[in-house]
Parts: sequence; structure tokens; C-alpha cells
Amino acid sequence: MKKRVLITGGAGFIGSHLADELLAHGHEVRVLDNLSPQVHGPGQVRPAYLSTAVELQVGDVRSTEDVRRALEGIDVVFHFAAMVGVGQSMYEVEAYTSVNTLGTAVLLQALLKKSVERLVVASSMSVYGEGFYRGRDGRARPGRERSLQQLSAGDWEVRDEEGEVLSPQPTPEWKAPENPSIYALSKYDQERMCLLIGKAYRLPTVALRFFNAYGTRQALSNPYTGVLAIFASRLLHGRSPLIFEDGEQMRDFVSVHDVARACRLSMESEAAAGQVLNVGSGEPMRVRDVAQRMAQAMGKPEVAPTITGKYRVGDVRHCYPDIGLARRVLGYEPRVTFEGGLSELTAWLREQAAALPVDRVVEARAELDARGLTL
Ligand code: NAD
Ligand code: UD1
Repeated sequence: MKKRVLITGGAGFIGSHLADELLAHGHEVRVLDNLSPQVHGPGQVRPAYLSTAVELQVGDVRSTEDVRRALEGIDVVFHFAAMVGVGQSMYEVEAYTSVNTLGTAVLLQALLKKSVERLVVASSMSVYGEGFYRGRDGRARPGRERSLQQLSAGDWEVRDEEGEVLSPQPTPEWKAPENPSIYALSKYDQERMCLLIGKAYRLPTVALRFFNAYGTRQALSNPYTGVLAIFASRLLHGRSPLIFEDGEQMRDFVSVHDVARACRLSMESEAAAGQVLNVGSGEPMRVRDVAQRMAQAMGKPEVAPTITGKYRVGDVRHCYPDIGLARRVLGYEPRVTFEGGLSELTAWLREQAAALPVDRVVEARAELDARGLTL
């Protein structure tokens, strides 16, 4: 049945793809987005990629009046509005807490007056902190946070209490969260606030923990964007990707198309209400390999990544998901291979090359360095 759907933050990377997915399935889409300059550039211009069928309301999720207006006539809400940089959250503490945590509070307060059929909140893999591991005795256990002393010495691996290296495993939803950055903490706030208000007021709510989404439309000019967009932006300027630690850290890179489908499924599935679900590709990859494959896909195999041997405060070593629950509850199955996703991304990147602003990654790195947020 046709639904009228609100996506907060829907002018951004994932939200705009979700809008396309919903429109293709016959739903109506409204977006509430403040067109934040860090993501969209100066001037609050509607992004060209946002479907003309989307009703865009430019406004702030922290404004009671903007949110009230955005909720008029709405059946389903996807709450995506957020500031999204892990590193930046460690020095823009107030802004991250304000947009992510207070913004969610304002939305929930408004939902108490004007309820909807379903609320889906974008949570994040970052809430886990270190992922799940296995010890030498074969027993599964959560990873331990690495000490600053160990990281300063360039010892990157996660170790047990006796100093033995632990081996990474897929992380299930029931692993206790650790929230190693202000960003992660604010995503956990968003998730818990939505679930607990959802339960108290019988508003069916789903929290999706996205892993590292990649694809077209991810802001290239934003130096705090996801790692694939950062690497692409560097490569387009003929510069080598800068890799934290030794590049052996593992993540799950999931196509934005798969993420958008998981979102739509979570709005349709009865069984999803009240659940927290991992959304990933199910295929972990090392950051160093990702940089190399990106260089190859962009026709620059000679540009080798630079291993900086530095640690970015707030980063975890390995975290990739067990996606079994999303498979069972949503019938979710990732469809886009990394190969296929990269080739779509590189075709889009070639179109962007001319309009690409100067490489701001070095500036962003300097900001972290100046604050002692890299080791
Ligand atoms: P994005 O930066 O492209 O989109 C976020 C959007 O929110 C932007 O359009 C921005 O203008 C808007 N926004 C920011 N502050 C706002 C405010 N105060 N009021 C209204 N709108 C505001 O990021 P994305 O990658 O599309 O992320 C979408 C959501 O998914 C976020 O909640 C993010 O935390 C979550 N997430 C993303 C990833 C990923 O890999 N990209 C992974 C896990 C979770
Ligand atoms: C990203 C998202 C975050 C989301 C999370 C979920 C952005 C800005 N952040 O954060 O919103 O919740 O995924 O998985 O989209 N790295 C480098 N060099 C760089 C940049 C990063 O080596 O120039 C490394 C990092 O140290 C890290 C890995 O790449 O090990 C991933 O980094 P990043 O893309 O920033 O992802 P998250 O921090 O996981």
C-alpha cells in the first residue's frame, strides 16, 4: 500500500538513494534537510541528484516548528539527519550532540503529538566499538579497547588480558555497545531514544546499524566523509590515499543500493518492529585492499596508498557484521558485489572530476593532528 514517507536528512547520500527506492515502489517522499554546507556546499542549493518527485522542506531537525510541518500527513518516518564524521565528532562535541541527540529528542517529542505507523532510525556499526573476536582457546568474546600506549608503539592488534592477539569474527547485534567516539555515543543515543519511546507509545520502531556504506552521491568535498569517497577524492587529484594504522583493519563495505533496500524492507516487515538489525554486505575487507582496488578501478594502479602508521582517535581495529538476523527478519540479501559497486562508483566519479574542489583531506588531517587526535 502506498505510504507517505518522511526522510530526515534525506537530501544526503543514503537518504536520497532511499528516496529513489521508495518512489520506485510507489510511495510518496518528503525530505526534511537543512542542506548542511559541509555536505552540500555553500548556498543551501537543492542537490541535482535528488529526484524531482521528492518534496524537499529545507529545515532543521532541531526546530520544533520545522519538524511539526514536516510530519503533516506522514505515515512513516526514516530518521537519517545527523553529522557523520567520527574524527570530527571528537572536537565538534557540541555540534554532534546537538544535531544527533537533541535533533532526535525534538523529533520524538513531535511524534508524541502526531504519531506515525512506523519509525526507522539510522544507527551505526560504530556503536559496537571493537567488534567480536575469538581467543586462542577458540572461545568467542568481545574485543578489548586498545590502550593508547600500545597504539603509540604501533601495535595495532586487539589483544586479550595476557597479550595474545585475538582473531576477528562477525559481530552479532547482541554484542554490548562500547561507543568509542562522540559520534558513536550520539548514534547510540538516537537508537535507544527511538526504541524506548517507540515501545512506550506503541510506535513500531526499527534501528538499523549500517556498516560502511559506499556509492554515488557520497559527498566528495566533505573531508569527513566515508573512506571510499576520501580515497576517490585523493585519487582524482592524483594523490595517494592516506591510510591509518597499517591498513590491515577490516570493515564491511556495503553498497548504498543494498542499504536502501534494507530500509524499505524494514518499513514493510511486521517482524522488524522493535528490532536492532545489522546492515552490511557480509564480506569483510581490509582498508589497504580497498585502497588498491579503488586505484585500479579508477585506472591509477600505479598510485600506491601511503601507510601513515598513525592512529585516528575513536577508530576500532576490526568490525564487520553478522547479517543473519537481517536475513531472517527482513528477507534481506545483499545483491551488489564490491566489483559491481566500484564500477558504478568510478563511472560517477569521472563525471564529478571537473567539478571537484581542491583536496581538503590534508587540511582535515591537520585539524586532527593539531588537536592530538592522531597518534
Ligand atoms: P550525509 O551527510 O550524506 O547525510 C546526512 C544529511 O543530514 C545531510 O543531507 C545533511 O544536510 C542533513 N543534516 C545534517 N544536520 C541536519 C540538521 N540539523 N537538520 C536536518 N538535516 C540535517 O550522510 P549519510 O552517509 O547519508 O548518513 C545518513 C545516516 O546514516 C546518518 O544518520 C548516519 O549517521 C547514518 N550512517 C551512515 C553510514 C555510512 O557509511 N554513510 C553508516 C552508518 C550510519
Ligand atoms: C563511517 C561513517 C559513519 C558510519 C560508520 C559505520 C562517514 C563519514 N562515516 O565511519 O557515519 O556510522 O562508517 O560503519 O561516512 N581511514 C583511512 N584513511 C582515511 C579515512 C579513513 O585509513 O583517509 C580508515 C579509518 O581509520 C578506518 C576505516 O578507514 O579504519 C573506515 O573509516 P571511515 O570511512 O571514516 O568509517 P567509519 O569511521 O567507520
